[in-house]
Amino acid sequence: EQQFQPHQPLAGMKMMITAGPTREALDPVRYLSNHSSGKMGYAIAASAAQMGAEVTLVSGPVALQAPTGVQLLRVESAAEMHHAVMTTAVQQDIFVACAAVADYRPEAVADCKIKKDNSEMSIRLVRNPDILADVAALNSGPFTVGFAAETHDVETYAIGKLQRKGLDMIAANDVSDSSIGFNSDDNALTLYWTDGKTELPATSKQQLAAQLLEQINHRYRIKQ
Ligand code: CTP
Ligand code: CA
Repeated sequence: EQQFQPHQPLAGMKMMITAGPTREALDPVRYLSNHSSGKMGYAIAASAAQMGAEVTLVSGPVALQAPTGVQLLRVESAAEMHHAVMTTAVQQDIFVACAAVADYRPEAVADCKIKKDNSEMSIRLVRNPDILADVAALNSGPFTVGFAAETHDVETYAIGKLQRKGLDMIAANDVSDSSIGFNSDDNALTLYWTDGKTELPATSKQQLAAQLLEQINHRYRIKQ
């Protein structure tokens, strides 16, 4: 019997991917969040599993099905995502941070629903941990890949994040173009690493995920 053997260049590799938004609770019924759909992260997870990797997908709340063959860990807040990631990050070969993690959370979560008692109100926010930077700072941690969604000065900010967080690679996308990025089915990326860059032109997030993983695998092998 002849069986089709898919090309599995990531066989034997452990990969963790974060995806989707986070929700930062204000009170029992309200939260701060963003418009991340999770599509890019889920496409990377699905593609990595097809390429043979053992994939853990740590996801904020999204309206997507768990990809076939992927271990899905559902979280809500940035703090929960940070905890889920740091528990097994050091055992991973590759870490891809696709999640749109809230940079800040309300300083306090009210026990009861906040009432509209006043004509004005303000919410004090405090910084969330940087999940990607914390993974990149691990001793003998995984090969780390970040995303940078920027509306302007894309290259400057992307390279700044690559260097500041000590990443192996960063995938930049220009979110000032609404036909690609956040809620869209298509995307385009520019990849930067310490001594190089390459463009992945606009295509479906599925296609782009496969191309990105090919580039990650290539840079990962060179680093070993
Ligand atoms: N990231 C993360 N944890 C955070 C914030 C960001 O893991 N608390 C990751 C994102 O998943 C992404 C990368 O860091 O891979 C860059 O996120 P981005 O929001 O573009 O950059 P920030 O470092 O948060 O800086 P700023 O929002 O000021 O541009
Ligand atoms: Ca941010």
